[in-house]
Amino acid sequence: MGTLFETTRINAMELANRFVFSATWLGLADEDGHSTARQAEYLAEIARRGVGLIITGHACVTPEGKAGPRQTAACDDRFLPGLKAMAAAVHDARGKVVLQISHAGCYAPAGLTGLDLVGPSPPDATEFPNCRELTVAGIGQIVAAFGQSAARARKAGFDGVQIHAAHGYLLSQFLSPYFNKRTDSYGGSIENRARIVIETLRAIRGAVGADFPVLIKMNAEDFVRGGLTVEEMLRVAALLEQAGIDAIEMSGGTIASGALIPIRAGVLEREGEAYYREAAARFKEVSGVPLLLVGGIRSFEVCEELVGKGRADYISLSRPLICEPDLIERWKSGDTGKSACISCNGCLKSGMRGRGVSCVLAPSS
Ligand SMILES: Cc1cc2nc3c(=O)[nH]c(=O)nc-3n(C[C@H](O)[C@H](O)[C@H](O)COP(=O)(O)O)c2cc1C
Repeated sequence: MGTLFETTRINAMELANRFVFSATWLGLADEDGHSTARQAEYLAEIARRGVGLIITGHACVTPEGKAGPRQTAACDDRFLPGLKAMAAAVHDARGKVVLQISHAGCYAPAGLTGLDLVGPSPPDATEFPNCRELTVAGIGQIVAAFGQSAARARKAGFDGVQIHAAHGYLLSQFLSPYFNKRTDSYGGSIENRARIVIETLRAIRGAVGADFPVLIKMNAEDFVRGGLTVEEMLRVAALLEQAGIDAIEMSGGTIASGALIPIRAGVLEREGEAYYREAAARFKEVSGVPLLLVGGIRSFEVCEELVGKGRADYISLSRPLICEPDLIERWKSGDTGKSACISCNGCLKSGMRGRGVSCVLAPSS
């Protein structure tokens, strides 16, 4: 079993330790989606403070797949200079950086994009009356766009890409029977619901080659009535393993999951940390794919236990690193006190106010 500060590899990418900055929208791109110097510096500072791997906030693969304001875009070559600057800033700080690529599906803000919403299902079968059901040709175009965005990431100098298939965005909507009511080869059985995800992985692999790390973030379960279950997640993981995925990050929940959204609020006792630890244990029993575990991890001892007992290969953190960018440096120095993050979600709210994400306990971060 591993230790937290050992060197490991994910495909061709060498990582100095097992800590990951989980994908975090920072609200620091410009209005059009170009990465800015402030965004690059934010990530560079996290790298400088010793986090082994940085996964960027989600970058949209098509204009109608944008999820929110000041989100990075990867959907066109005109975004390459900003992407290059972001990757270079993290590398100058001796870090590794993976670009998360995504499509928001029916959760895209049409008011912001001015474009039609698209998703897996007929409009009358979901809570999204304005969401148009994708045709098979439309699915093919989005799959191709994921491939093209991944190629752009490689060209820009990123160390890998992560497919965003979690949290109720487009690929997660396809996986989930709560959202996906299709009766064609992209709906019904879990193999059919996973088809677009596997096609996306294949398109990306075709575009970036065998040695470029391709990761995916997916839900352990959806926590909505009739949503994706742990059993189905395990089946998807097996299909991804066969198709050559390099690592899986396990998250959970959707925007429709009430208190069980991916960004759960509330301070936790140690036993409540790592929301998806039971699903992770089941995953590790059957899968050989490296596992990044995210969600409510706050204590060094919990990190040690998860990795030491083989329940996860990497510890992924979002809000604790917004709160304390130097958390991993602190833990490595022997000061192993719990993260100061109280999971209040003030960081997300500060981002929504247009000033960029920052911790309300430590506003200078
Ligand atoms: C401000 C903010 C932005 C986020 N943006 C993304 C994102 O772009 N992509 C993603 O997969 N998850 C995103 N997340 C979710 C986190 O990656 C993570 O899964 C979640 O916060 C739980 O981990 P934590 O308890 O360590 O914060 C975001 C979370 C926060 C707080």
